[in-house]
Amino acid sequence: MYVVSVINYKGGVGKTTVTANLGAELANRGMKVLLIDLDPQASLTFGFYDPDDWRERLRDSRTVKRWYDGLREGNPSITLGELVVSPGPANARLTGTGRLDLIASHLQLVDIDLALARSVAGGEEYDAELFRVRGSLAEGLLADGLEPYDMVLIDCPPNFNVVTQSAIIASDHLVIPAKADYLSTLGIDYLHGNVRELVEQYNADARQFATVRRHQKVAPGVAGVVFTMIQLLARQPIATHQRYMDQVRNLGLPVFPTALRENVTLYATNTPRGVPVVLRDRVTVPAVRDELRQLATEFLDHLQPDRQPV
Ligand SMILES: Nc1ncnc2c1ncn2[C@@H]1O[C@H](COP(=O)(O)OP(=O)(O)O)[C@@H](O)[C@H]1O
Ligand SMILES: [Mg+2]
Repeated sequence: MYVVSVINYKGGVGKTTVTANLGAELANRGMKVLLIDLDPQASLTFGFYDPDDWRERLRDSRTVKRWYDGLREGNPSITLGELVVSPGPANARLTGTGRLDLIASHLQLVDIDLALARSVAGGEEYDAELFRVRGSLAEGLLADGLEPYDMVLIDCPPNFNVVTQSAIIASDHLVIPAKADYLSTLGIDYLHGNVRELVEQYNADARQFATVRRHQKVAPGVAGVVFTMIQLLARQPIATHQRYMDQVRNLGLPVFPTALRENVTLYATNTPRGVPVVLRDRVTVPAVRDELRQLATEFLDHLQPDRQPV
């Protein structure tokens, strides 16, 4: 099982779009894919379930908030495996034996973070608790019922709070969607530095605090930056975008050769409801779908087969 976080501090850069479409394409190629929505804005969740449906069927019983609630109370009442749902319309589109499942988010997931941060006073006790919480998702993914998944894709919130940190610690790889503009390129370097610091701190803490839990060293790597919402001219990114794309390459970070073009009409609609763009058979601009497929191929190529999951 690979665990991959889709992450960027900035909102509106295409994290959710990349998560949904990458997941859908891999599932369509026969993989068993689990999407986890960790963003309290729940855009990924609402891409698959309409808000009424979510309220009736998921809100109180089947969201990742319930799991983090148990964690905070030191009394896990449910495993991640018990929270999995299978969005119908998307799965109906899949050919072959693939699967596209979801652990939904909750609009109040944001409170969890504050509560976790406040739950311990300070000093060594605080460090130990922080270590436990940061490692919680990695541990939680070992739960019963999750063994069949080939791929877990985590849609991260646009921040670096403790829930996001737990996603990074659980991950083998990070995918960083970004727009090709000034602020996005600044942010990527900063994000990369913070990830590195977090991982170093976590591995140092593991030596001090790890008791019975598995505490192999974590070492998530950047699978690549994927540029999104790119404007094309004669099939090439416009010069402004190209300049920022080159800048990120110059940071030494891997960049996926395929960038996703801007197409508001296609990406803004959720029609047919709950079906990511890559699975829609009547895509008006086939090149958009081809691009998403190509990105999935590049992503798979990047994964090292000898690398073991957390
Ligand atoms: N390639 C694209 N072209 C045009 N609009 C896009 C594209 N990718 C995403 N969008 C739209 O941009 C908005 C933000 O994308 P989203 O994936 O939700 O970003 P994030 O998860 O980083 O906040 C959404 O309305 C989405 O439909
Ligand atoms: Mg999002």
